[in-house]
Amino acid sequence: MQHEIFEKNSLILLIGILLVVSVGGIVQIAPLFWVESTIETVKGMRPYTPLEQAGRDIYVREGCYGCHSQMVRTLRDEVERYGHYSLAAESMYDHPFQWGSKRTGPDLARVVGKYSDQWHAEHMINPRSLVPESIMPGYPWLKESKLDAEDIVARLKTLKLVGVPYSNEMIDKAKQDLTAQVTPDSRPARDMLRRYPKAKVGKFDGKPGNEPSELDALIAYLQVLGTLVDFPTFDASGPNLRCGAKSMTYDSIATLSQVISLLMFVAMFLAVVVYALWPSNKSRFEAAQRRALDLKAQGLADRGRR
Ligand code: HEC
Repeated sequence: MQHEIFEKNSLILLIGILLVVSVGGIVQIAPLFWVESTIETVKGMRPYTPLEQAGRDIYVREGCYGCHSQMVRTLRDEVERYGHYSLAAESMYDHPFQWGSKRTGPDLARVVGKYSDQWHAEHMINPRSLVPESIMPGYPWLKESKLDAEDIVARLKTLKLVGVPYSNEMIDKAKQDLTAQVTPDSRPARDMLRRYPKAKVGKFDGKPGNEPSELDALIAYLQVLGTLVDFPTFDASGPNLRCGAKSMTYDSIATLSQVISLLMFVAMFLAVVVYALWPSNKSRFEAAQRRALDLKAQGLADRGRR
């Protein structure tokens, strides 16, 4: 090969380096696009109800993320304080996810069931009425603001587009389900629960009437965080996890890629050895070897002549 081309043109050398380096990247990354089983599915996960989703959007709008994380790490102090560590599957329908890293306030991934709806309503309006030393700002306007969810159908459709499994029925009934969640003991509410198991129905903000406020939506969202996976029956060693899953595709692709990389490694090693020992190359290599000695001898001779 004409190595000079690479050695004299830095741009060509750079492109050559990028090509060679990307082989490793492609070998590692490409299989992930086809391996379904890298996505861990956990029983119980379902998309958010329209009201919960609207509440999530308010959570995002108000920037609660700036002070609250939603991810319990696998460290002992965290698990003892908040509960079971967070699973990737728990945020599989979150767009965008709200893991966060800033904890001015506590983590909220397991806040569910810790407080009543009434507590949340009171706390959101004026945190200091319940926690005197709190530095959390109040959000009193949420209770007065009627929830603007005219576009809820479009929002669910958009989420479906990025992979959240909303069925056509869920999308068609989105508006009905939205009000149903603040209308306890009604037929629409029972209908909604059939689509969204474990959803909480109630008058979250404590106001009568079935027009949801922004506070209703936010509390509905806070009250579903961490409820969907049934942790007492969740077994971390499987069958939820990849290692325990009977996934033929994953196992066979993994074995195949291991065998291929081993063969490639052996082939490359043999190619180098054969190239170095090939008769016509051998004489070239030997000539190259001698060149240094020849030059040295020539140099000595030159010096002797002077
Ligand atoms: C400036 C930082 C800050 C912001 C912004 C903030 N919080 Fe808080 N939050 C706190 C602090 C500090 C606490 C702990 C004291 C308390 O309970 O009020 C807290 C407590 C909470 C709690 C009780 C958690 C528990 O386990 O006791 C909830 C629920 C909560 N916040 C929800 C929210 C929501 C929803 C938003 C957005 C609308 C929000 N917070 C915005 C700082 C903040």
